[in-house]
Amino acid sequence: MSVASAIVARGLQKKFGAVTAAADVQIEIAHGERVSLIGSNGAGKTTFVNMLTGYIKPDSGEILLDGRSIIGLAPRQIARLGVARSFQIPQLYKDLSVQDNLLAAIAAQQSALSFWRPANHSESVAHAHEILQRFDLLAHADRLVSELPGGIRKLLDIAMALTRQPTVLLLDEPTSGVSADEKFPMMDTVMRALEGSRTTVLFVEHDMDIVARYSQRVIAFYSGRIIADGLPEVALAMPDVKRYVTGELIAVNDHA
Ligand SMILES: Nc1ncnc2c1ncn2[C@@H]1O[C@H](COP(=O)(O)OP(=O)(O)OP(=O)(O)O)[C@@H](O)[C@H]1O
Ligand SMILES: [Mg+2]
Repeated sequence: MSVASAIVARGLQKKFGAVTAAADVQIEIAHGERVSLIGSNGAGKTTFVNMLTGYIKPDSGEILLDGRSIIGLAPRQIARLGVARSFQIPQLYKDLSVQDNLLAAIAAQQSALSFWRPANHSESVAHAHEILQRFDLLAHADRLVSELPGGIRKLLDIAMALTRQPTVLLLDEPTSGVSADEKFPMMDTVMRALEGSRTTVLFVEHDMDIVARYSQRVIAFYSGRIIADGLPEVALAMPDVKRYVTGELIAVNDHA
């Protein structure tokens, strides 16, 4: 049995021209951890996520997924190794029902051939049903995605990312575009659906209420560097986090 961490990042560097998007980023995350990535605009959160998913290659440094190096692999290969991603704007088929979207996600994992075999279809329907139940989506199964409120769309998008039981699930601002009334129930459902699972969850989030309530650990970025990494109550109370992330303290300009 592997005892390797879900994710290990060592000495990640990435520059875009004169901009440093990652500066010696070191992170180690265990299986099953729920981690939020925070930071102001341009801090380097998406750059980290893009390096983890293979969309960007770091200038230097190492990334291990479950003990295995993923540097140089294509996004598809990394996805196949167990890194799933949900997007800030859900990637759904709007003219299909909730259930058919899930079936499409399940089919995408199987070979094109097995998708068309009737025997597999009933298995897929059973799998979709199990996921609908886990995500409290059964009542919406036959509704078209175009008719759904934002929070339900997000749930479906996340449910679709989880169809292949990923090692790592990356959520890009799960509550953006979700109304204030919907955001806590939606996150409660996601966390309940993930309960007991070994899937590591990393979410980029600007809403500090969500960060404080749903993460076990907070990693704060500023200017490509990690400026805090710890328990939410500790990380969110750090002066640098208040200064450079949440804006609770005014940043002091050295050149003033
Ligand atoms: N493909 C790119 N080409 C050039 N510069 C880039 C590219 N991607 C990111 N950057 C720059 O790298 C820095 C880090 O950007 P990144 O997207 O990682 O920030 P972020 O923390 O995700 O911010 P936001 O909260 O706005 O999404 C920024 O200065 C950004 O302009
Ligand atoms: Mg970003």
